[in-house]
Amino acid sequence: MRHALAGLLGLTTILTPIATMAEERASARVETILATLTLDEKAGQLSMDSPIAKYDPADFASGRSGSVLNYFDPTYIEALAKVGRSYKGVPVLHALDIIHGFRTITPVPIAEAATFDPALAYAAAALAGRETRAAGVTLTFSPVADVARDPRWGRAVEGSGEDTRMAEAFTRARVEGFHAGGIGTTLKHFAGYGAAEGGREYDAAEISPSRFANSYLPPYRAAIDAGTDMVMTTYVSVDGLPATANRHLMTDILRDQWHFQGVVVSDLLAVEELISHGVARDGKDAALKAFRAGVDMDMGAGLFRRYLPELVREGQVAEADVDRSVRRVLTMKEKLGLFDRPAPNADAAEKQFLLPESRALARSIAAESFVLLKNDGDVLPLAAGKRVAVIGGLADSQGDTLGPHGGNGRNADAVTVLTALRQRLGDRVSYAAGCDGLCETADGFDAALKTAASADVIVAVLGEPRGLMGEGASRADLGLPGRQEELLAKLKATGKPVVALLFNGRPLVLTGPTANADALMLLWAPGIEGGNAVADVILGDKAPAGRLPFTFPRAVGQIPMTYDALPTGRPARPDLHDTAKYQDVAIGPLYPFGYGLTYTHFDYADLALDKTDLSPADTLAASVTVRNTGSRAGKEVVQLYVNQPVASLSRPVKQLKAWTKVELAPGEAREVTLRVPVADLGFVGADGVYRVEPGPFRVYVGSSAATDRVATFEVNAGPVAARDGQPGETQRK
Ligand code: BGC
Repeated sequence: MRHALAGLLGLTTILTPIATMAEERASARVETILATLTLDEKAGQLSMDSPIAKYDPADFASGRSGSVLNYFDPTYIEALAKVGRSYKGVPVLHALDIIHGFRTITPVPIAEAATFDPALAYAAAALAGRETRAAGVTLTFSPVADVARDPRWGRAVEGSGEDTRMAEAFTRARVEGFHAGGIGTTLKHFAGYGAAEGGREYDAAEISPSRFANSYLPPYRAAIDAGTDMVMTTYVSVDGLPATANRHLMTDILRDQWHFQGVVVSDLLAVEELISHGVARDGKDAALKAFRAGVDMDMGAGLFRRYLPELVREGQVAEADVDRSVRRVLTMKEKLGLFDRPAPNADAAEKQFLLPESRALARSIAAESFVLLKNDGDVLPLAAGKRVAVIGGLADSQGDTLGPHGGNGRNADAVTVLTALRQRLGDRVSYAAGCDGLCETADGFDAALKTAASADVIVAVLGEPRGLMGEGASRADLGLPGRQEELLAKLKATGKPVVALLFNGRPLVLTGPTANADALMLLWAPGIEGGNAVADVILGDKAPAGRLPFTFPRAVGQIPMTYDALPTGRPARPDLHDTAKYQDVAIGPLYPFGYGLTYTHFDYADLALDKTDLSPADTLAASVTVRNTGSRAGKEVVQLYVNQPVASLSRPVKQLKAWTKVELAPGEAREVTLRVPVADLGFVGADGVYRVEPGPFRVYVGSSAATDRVATFEVNAGPVAARDGQPGETQRK
């Protein structure tokens, strides 16, 4: 018997004609242009070319190529726009990987997630959009909606962490932010990239239908609902079918169920890679399979340009289907204003970059994203008047401060930790690198220890250089790179207080010498104003305000490890041998999802629900009183998790459903109310249908996923609406 969810994994026939989908309409201008294009020119509109594919301006002038990617230099963008306008009046679409800024490079997306404040992601995207548009480019390959469940995967840095609800909120905010900044967006990478096995970049993914529908699909759906202009396929295969050939994903889910009307572009060279995936015989077969699956545009491989006309002539592809894809592309060009916009001007654009308010935003987002994990003896904020030894290759590395996927950012614009501390503390700061970012030799350790000996406190800036974050940057070992931990141990052995500040694009395993630092704070890749933000926080002008968007394991062997695990028949217990745990590592994570300290402490009291019998149309309201018990102001992220103890399928032990960030003055207490519509408490069941199952629920409120502050409520049976009855359906805001 065919499993009801089999279709989710692309098990439907892939050669069904696609002309059955609802007709899409285009403007008179688009229809007029379409009517003038030859078959070759249409295939050109469905081809995006890249520097890797040896871009030749003549391709645009002759209509052989309709789109281009990743030429970042504004002077070049200007020249390209002029060439691109000359062919039959169809402008060239130019898209860029604008992941965290065009020229004003803000913190990486995972750092934005650590702020737990999607409004900041919106603001950063709007800023990036304004600069990108000023340069003359109107589309970004962003946001990344991939839920990352394995920290070994380098691209964790580009997303919003391990949690589905967080990814929904941040993905939506980024789409809206880029749009507010004046550029279009590309949702990527559809779908399941974050599940690449073992966190190995580009590897196959195995995702159960239920996990796919409940954990992976919702953030993509959020971006569709927010109006993303384009969708990019992912490189990975799920259950043996690469996304770029997966008609069920690209057509049944994306078009028919989610009603996406924009353009589907392959990831770079992904059409050609169908051959190495072993699902296409050659380039022509790959073009046929990708096109029939629902890919409109081939990025980088040139196979649509080469084979689509031939496939139409042979009757394997209907010209009407080609027309529909071209119509989508031209409509997107029109919507992005390409037909009407004056050519960009590089000099004028320059004046829009790096505005003081843009740098100020980058600085405040960075400060908001730092996660304080440890602060023994309140070594932070640093006491006034102390001599500070700054150690570590990342302390003065401008490129690493900007981070990976740096747009058109210039290293010279970045303020490093060392520069900022020197500006603030003058000659009370001394510096020795000890080693470079990868720290492969100990040659500089003695000099570093000598520098440390003359100071009152050591600030070690270590962690991952940007080459270990992002695409292609999978890691098998999640400790500090190279010999950094050895350096840290030697610094600790001086007896001076050690503050370890870590660059990181993913969860790290922070046991061993790292755990012995007196203070430990994550900086992620903090962006252009990273150094100033660090100075703001460690000197006490601001307090750390970030929380972990990831579970931090104790050992790589515990991975995959996420807070929203399913229950087991034998939950882990230290006193029982045969329970769900490892015999050689302590139970649970080193730091739970949602965790983070600041310079004060918070108490929670009086968790109460406004009602405990709810119908499916109700909204759960949970209130709690949060009190700042310390002597400094601080921000707390109040988090609400839900668990359904009995359902038709095991439900996660906890699932984040709502959160809010509050700032409290010393001694201040505030009642905080978090709300969750009951309609949000459902899941896609074994029949592929989303529904809320009635019964008892638990609600947890606290400062991390480890909270055990709990109340219970009951969802009554009643008219429970199944939304569209489709897999991947989830609550829309
Ligand atoms: C990446 C995409 C990116 C594209 C274009 C690919 O390798 O997976 O995220 O947008 O390149 O640069």
